[in-house]
Formats: sequence, C-alpha cells, structure tokens
Amino acid sequence: MSYRAAVAAYRKKTPNSRRLHAESARLHVNGVHHNIRHFDPYPFVTRSARAQRITDVDANAYTDYWMGHWSLILGHRPTRVKSAIESQLGRGWMHGTVSEPSIRLSQEIAKSVRAAQKIRYVSSGTEAVMYAARIARTYTKKKTVVKVDGGWHGYASDLLKTVNWPFGSESRGVPNEKNIVSIPYNDLGGALDILQKVQKDLACIVVEPLLGGGGCIPAEQDYLRGLEEFASKSGALFILDEIVTGFRFRYGCMYPMMRLDPDIVTLGKIIGGGMPIGAMCGRSEVMGVADTSRFSKSERSYVGGGTFSANPASMSAGLATLQTIKSQKALYPRLERLGGEARNSLERAFDGRVTATGAGSLFMPHFVRNMDGVTSPADASRCDTGLLSRFHFEMIARDGIFFLPGKLGAVSAAHTRADIGRLTEAAERFSSTLGARA
Ligand SMILES: Cc1ncc(COP(=O)(O)O)c(C=O)c1O
Repeated sequence: MSYRAAVAAYRKKTPNSRRLHAESARLHVNGVHHNIRHFDPYPFVTRSARAQRITDVDANAYTDYWMGHWSLILGHRPTRVKSAIESQLGRGWMHGTVSEPSIRLSQEIAKSVRAAQKIRYVSSGTEAVMYAARIARTYTKKKTVVKVDGGWHGYASDLLKTVNWPFGSESRGVPNEKNIVSIPYNDLGGALDILQKVQKDLACIVVEPLLGGGGCIPAEQDYLRGLEEFASKSGALFILDEIVTGFRFRYGCMYPMMRLDPDIVTLGKIIGGGMPIGAMCGRSEVMGVADTSRFSKSERSYVGGGTFSANPASMSAGLATLQTIKSQKALYPRLERLGGEARNSLERAFDGRVTATGAGSLFMPHFVRNMDGVTSPADASRCDTGLLSRFHFEMIARDGIFFLPGKLGAVSAAHTRADIGRLTEAAERFSSTLGARA
C-alpha cells in the first residue's frame, strides 16, 4: 500500500473523526492538547478503550501500543483500578485536603524506592521535574541545570531545550535558557568536557535512565555512574527522571539495577494508574529545603502541588495499580518476553533495515541508514524517521494497530502473543512494499 492509498483508506474509515477534528481545530491550537497527539491528515478521535484495544468514534478498533503516553501498564480499564476509582468517586474525587489514599500510596512507593524518604505529589511529570530543579537550585545555591541532548522532561521552562534534533532551542518564550546546559547522551567523555566548564555553577544533572521520547534508548550504566559521580564531587544533585521507567521494568525504579543512588527521583505515569500525577521523591535532607515550617521565604524552595495535587482519585488509582502489579508475580517477566518478541520480530521482518531499541516492555524500531547501532538520540535522528511514521500510520490505516506515529511502543499486561503476531505480520507486509535494500 502506498502512503497515498493509506491516507485514502484512513479517510474512508474515519469520517466522524475527521468531522470532529475540524470542530476541534476551530477551538484548539492544532486541534489537540499535547503537540505529539497530532498526526496527519488528522488524528482519530477516541470513543472508548478496554484492555489492549482503543476504539474510535467510527467504531474502528486498534490494538493500542501508545497506552496513554505509556502510563497504562495494566492496559485500559483494569478491573481492580476501575473499582478503586469508582469506590473513591462514591466518597468524592476532589477534596483539596489531606487524604488517606495519598499516605497509602506513598507508603507503597517508599517501600520500593529507597530514594523516596520524602515525597511531594503534583499533577504532572512536567511539574515534578520543574520543582526538582528548583529544589536543586535552592539546595546548592547554584543556577545551572544540566540535561542531555534528546532528554524530555515535559514543557517546563527550566528544562525545555535540546529535545529534538538538531539539539538547540525548542521554543520562544523560555527565559534564562542560558542556565540550561546540554550534554551528549551515552558519551561520558563528551559529557564531562562540558560539565567541567559549568562545574562551579552546577545545581543538578537531570537524566532519564532510558530515553523515552528521545528514541527508547537505554543509558549505559558507566555513563550514568560517571554523571552521578561528577554531580556528587561538584556538590550538585543527581536527579533521575523515572517518569517513564518507574515501575515499568520491576516493582520500583530502574536505578538500583544500575547501582545508582540519586538525590531526587521523579515519578509519574504508572504510579497514577492513568490519572494525572507526578511525584518528587528525594532524600529528606534535600527535600527539606521545601519545608515552609523550617525555612523563611528567603531560604526555602517554594514548591507545589496545586489545586489537584494528591487528589484522591489519582491516589486511589495509583495505589490500586501498584497493588495489582505486586500481586502478579509473573507480570514483569511476561512483559519482558513480549517486549523482546516485539523487538526481535520487527528486526526480522525488516531484514536488517531496522534496529529495535528498548528494554522490557518498551520497544521502538529505527530504520537505520549506514550505521551500526542506535545508542543515542543523535543516532536515532540520523535514522529514517519519516519512514517510521509512515509505517506507524499505515498500521493505523490498514491493520488496526495504533502507535503514535514516530513514538515508541509499550506492551501492557493486556497484550498477548497473538497481538505481537499481528504486529509482526503488519511489519512483514510493510517491509515487502519497501523494495530492495538500498
Ligand atoms: C521522562 C519524562 N519526564 C517528564 C515527562 C512529563 O510528564 P507529563 O507529560 O506528565 O507532564 C515525560 C512525559 O512523557 C517524560 O517522558
């Protein structure tokens, strides 16, 4: 199927989405509320979702590998999480006061995340990382925040730089961009060269242990340990952004697998069970700078919350999600197997054109061009990203399989081997249309 034929097939099967998208575009910037949710010619409009399926307003069903920005490790609407939300609804879903579910969720997180001596909930990952940077600046009395090329930490101005290739400014309207310094990913020598230049004013290094938005690329252990060591000897904080990776590969964070000891870990996505959430988890001493009972205005770090922080619906959904994960001993090994199968079968289907990156249940094919592997976002951006988006779109149009075009895929507890089989067949069909290898 050519791309034109795929667009025609998509238009034919999604007339209601097309009409609704036109209405949306009249009122909403780009017709969406998160830039990545747009894809050409228009994104389908969802009516409902259950388990591993998402259904649009034209009654087309898709096997979903986007899984709510990778937040739904148990699939859509898992029974226990749904019941927890329903029972919370019966007690009210917005109190604006302290609620018991927040205490229970924190106890569960603290048991499995050693860095979580103190926790503060917010309503998004963006806020969690933004406040973590503020805490670091307060604690160290320094200004420079270091991130990696290709690292995505949400839309907050403190980290909104060097997200997309070519790594530079991302947006107008970001003040004090000079205080954000970017280092290459998985290149310790290159990173240290830059770090040495900003060492005197270094407040923190913020990094994901596996780049999500940046191409589904795991960090090398020596790289992260080198960054942590540099932060520690510079009196700066080492902040791990585990918003994608927290509770994704094991019950807890990814960092103990790499023998790291971060000062602050940010969490989100899975710990909210599909409800809005973000969390800063950190050492008591570090998080203590936000304690308004101990510090005056001129000394403290003033961090939120906000109106909806720790709302009982998110807390109950998150707690039920963690309890469900904990009760399913076979979950992580099974997800790892399915993810591995997806990576292997995509590489096989594309016969050398594709390198599949990822770990556990996360996977992403890269259409490589004259290169050995994909170990950094710079490598990922040298791949044929247009072809990847076309592959993803053709699966939406023809095969009833949904990846947000160009983004990594996530297997959930609801996915089956048969789903991976259908994904493999779709990849083989697309591969057969590509012609002889260049
Ligand atoms: C690693 C990472 N940090 C932070 C964020 C921002 O989280 P949110 O979209 O909840 O604001 C994301 C979102 O995808 C992310 O992947």
